[in-house]
Amino acid sequence: MRSPTAPPAMPWLLVLAVLAGFAVDLSAATDHIVGANHGWNPNINYSLWSGNQTFYVGDLISFRYQKGTHNVFEVNETGYDNCTMAGVAGNWTSGKDFIPLPEARRYYFICGNGFCLQGMKVAITVHPLQHNASSKGSGNTGAQGETSAAALTRRSFAWLGALAAAVAAFC
Ligand SMILES: *[C@@H]1O[C@H](CO)[C@@H](O)[C@H](O)[C@H]1NC(C)=O
Ligand SMILES: *[C@@H]1O[C@H](CO)[C@@H](O)[C@H](O)[C@H]1NC(C)=O
Ligand SMILES: *[C@@H]1O[C@H](CO)[C@@H](O)[C@H](O)[C@H]1NC(C)=O
Ligand SMILES: *[C@@H]1O[C@H](CO)[C@@H](O)[C@H](O)[C@H]1NC(C)=O
Ligand SMILES: *[C@@H]1O[C@H](CO)[C@@H](O)[C@H](O)[C@H]1NC(C)=O
Ligand SMILES: *[C@@H]1O[C@H](CO)[C@@H](O)[C@H](O)[C@H]1NC(C)=O
Repeated sequence: MRSPTAPPAMPWLLVLAVLAGFAVDLSAATDHIVGANHGWNPNINYSLWSGNQTFYVGDLISFRYQKGTHNVFEVNETGYDNCTMAGVAGNWTSGKDFIPLPEARRYYFICGNGFCLQGMKVAITVHPLQHNASSKGSGNTGAQGETSAAALTRRSFAWLGALAAAVAAFC
């Protein structure tokens, strides 16, 4: 689609646009650590944990566990309810898995080596981003604006943390 007569500055502008878009993406992610400081282990009620979280498109869910002992499978609702591989859509085994949540829908994760039956299952609902929440002039915009600004700040730090951890994992 690019015009052959585009001036030489165009490629750099494209690079800048891509970087800017990336920065926006970075600022819009929260890393939800499953089980918080309890991690991904048997005999924890992950419904209580997930009920306390609000997930938005672009956030991450991350699982921390003993590599080799546990793992993570994304399944569908049937797999989640019955602790089976029904509807399996992915698996992770690193012990420190950062899983992106790109769609607004329910996600179901279980441990794939029998520990699902001991509670290692978590279901979450990912909500669409509400871009116009703070620009609507309907009473409580101030509080909402502050909330989303704080959320954006938290999100960018969460992403940087996730990136740093990912980089560290490679070293
Ligand atoms: C987790 O806690 C909720 C709320 O107390 C409860 O309804 C649910 O049955 C519990 N789940 C398990 C697997 O114990
Ligand atoms: C849910 O969040 C509240 C407020 O942050 C906290 O007091 C409570 O311990 C949390 N519950 C669970 C199960 O994490
Ligand atoms: C799995 O759980 C669903 C409920 O979500 C149930 O209707 C179905 O019979 C179960 N399937 C198996 C094979 O246990
Ligand atoms: C989950 O996947 C299995 C196997 O593909 C399928 O039979 C089942 O209907 C699916 N369950 C749901 C709730 O989509
Ligand atoms: C786990 O995922 C890999 C690809 O990442 C796939 O090749 C493998 O078959 C999956 N294993 C299971 C049991 O689904
Ligand atoms: C944006 O605002 C319109 C009303 O002006 C509303 O219908 C819509 O749901 C809002 N979108 C989001 C993502 O909040």
